[in-house]
Amino acid sequence: MTTSDLPQRLRAALTTAGFTYDAVAELLGPLAHAALGRNETTPGLRRTAGGSPLETLVRLFLLQTTVDAAAAEAALPGLVDRLAAEGFVEQSVGEVAARLDVRPYATGDDDLWVVSDLTPGLDGREARVAADHVLGISSASSSLAQLTMREPVGRSLDLGTGCGVQALHLARHSREVVATDVNERALRLTRFNAALNDVRVPVDVRDGSFFEPVRGERFDLIATNPPFVISPATGERLVYRDSGLPGDRVVEDIVRGAPDHLTDGGWCQVLANWVIARDVPWDERLLPWVADDCDAFVVQREVIDPASYVELWLKDAGLHGSPDYLTRYDTWLSWFEDQGIEAVGFGWINLRRTEAAGSRTRDFLEWPYDVEQPIAPALSAWGAAVGVAVTLDSRLLVRNDVQQETVGQPGAEDPDTVVLRQQRGLRRARRADTVEAALVGACDGELSVGRILDALAQLLDLEPAQTRATYLPVVGELVIEGFLEPAHSEPVRD
Ligand SMILES: C[S@@+](CC[C@H](N)C(=O)[O-])C[C@H]1O[C@@H](n2cnc3c(N)ncnc32)[C@H](O)[C@@H]1O
Repeated sequence: MTTSDLPQRLRAALTTAGFTYDAVAELLGPLAHAALGRNETTPGLRRTAGGSPLETLVRLFLLQTTVDAAAAEAALPGLVDRLAAEGFVEQSVGEVAARLDVRPYATGDDDLWVVSDLTPGLDGREARVAADHVLGISSASSSLAQLTMREPVGRSLDLGTGCGVQALHLARHSREVVATDVNERALRLTRFNAALNDVRVPVDVRDGSFFEPVRGERFDLIATNPPFVISPATGERLVYRDSGLPGDRVVEDIVRGAPDHLTDGGWCQVLANWVIARDVPWDERLLPWVADDCDAFVVQREVIDPASYVELWLKDAGLHGSPDYLTRYDTWLSWFEDQGIEAVGFGWINLRRTEAAGSRTRDFLEWPYDVEQPIAPALSAWGAAVGVAVTLDSRLLVRNDVQQETVGQPGAEDPDTVVLRQQRGLRRARRADTVEAALVGACDGELSVGRILDALAQLLDLEPAQTRATYLPVVGELVIEGFLEPAHSEPVRD
């Protein structure tokens, strides 16, 4: 790949052809779009036979079918030879076929394009990929993009950049981005994608393993979707998913190493898999990874049993149905057993480094339920809430999306169960007793927590001092979990 004017010229051609995410979605329609999401191209081929430049680009790069050379020339004027020389396409007599994937990507109001390796396995074709395969935009990329906090920052780090999709996002709210990888092809594609998208801030693309290329440097934000697949590391290593480290060491090393690369108040956000070991609660196993100077909010989104996990990743590698499929499956499962791995957790690790003295918050949440996307604002809100010092003098407000659900026998005077449920963000829910539910309901931003608790103690015939002592910590939890918010600016924890 080159540092020439190819990115600019390709950008101009893609813009002229109207090759945007929305235009492609409209051209394909929901049925063909969904089919392509399942790696099936037939409905898409039926929708793109008209010969317009947009249809040609969709057929060439997304549906991976050969296009007529004249149509390719019309869609990419004066560029086909250059693209062939740079390995984007291959020419044969009268026809052009894609060798790289070029696809539109929408983020907010921006239309971007991302170049990566071709999606393997379309229409049931061979799905095995080379060891240095550069993944395109995957569901994991999108999850991390939705997780990553988008407040303006100075320096950000995309660790394990792949095709550079996180770096493109980070460049929209950072003054400077560093993107690292060990795959030389990924580094070249990231540089190309930064130029293709006319990124205006410096994107410093560096070769090297994990934190090695940023030794001694600090960042305000680290976003990473590392090669986290937990496997016996037998056979070939696919660099986009296999770290070469045993078990979940790659995630542990990143979590342990990140604080040395974070500024005061800086965040590290990791999309990860972790081992759920026999007889050890998942959070107890991860807790020691978190450094003393960090707040941590870890959300386990999914627990996958060993057999489903092995099947998922053997299929991802295109090995389903291969002659040694059964042997690989058996080897992987028996390795899980030997290692005492009962299941694999999938989720988000969010760390915030805080230099000031004081206690740190560790929130380990098992939350497999539907959440509002992008989830990043809810995580930022968690970070803000952790900093609030809740006292009896605090004046708090119930968040305006919190609703109360009651369950009980028909006609009963009192419900058996009261649940407070958020309609937005993480959509957390928690059971509340009578005092807690009434307290949340009474938080109008005017009365202090102490006054509300005293009034409730009187109303419910409870001992006031005991009620304050019991429920003040509960109020702290309600703030961190986002059910209550400070009405005015509350003192911040030291
Ligand atoms: C799952 S992909 C993530 C790609 C991209 N960041 C995204 O969100 O789609 C993991 C990336 O980590 C890279 N990688 C593998 N081993 C690495 C290492 N030791 N140090 C840095 N990056 C590594 C792979 O080449 C790959 O690009």
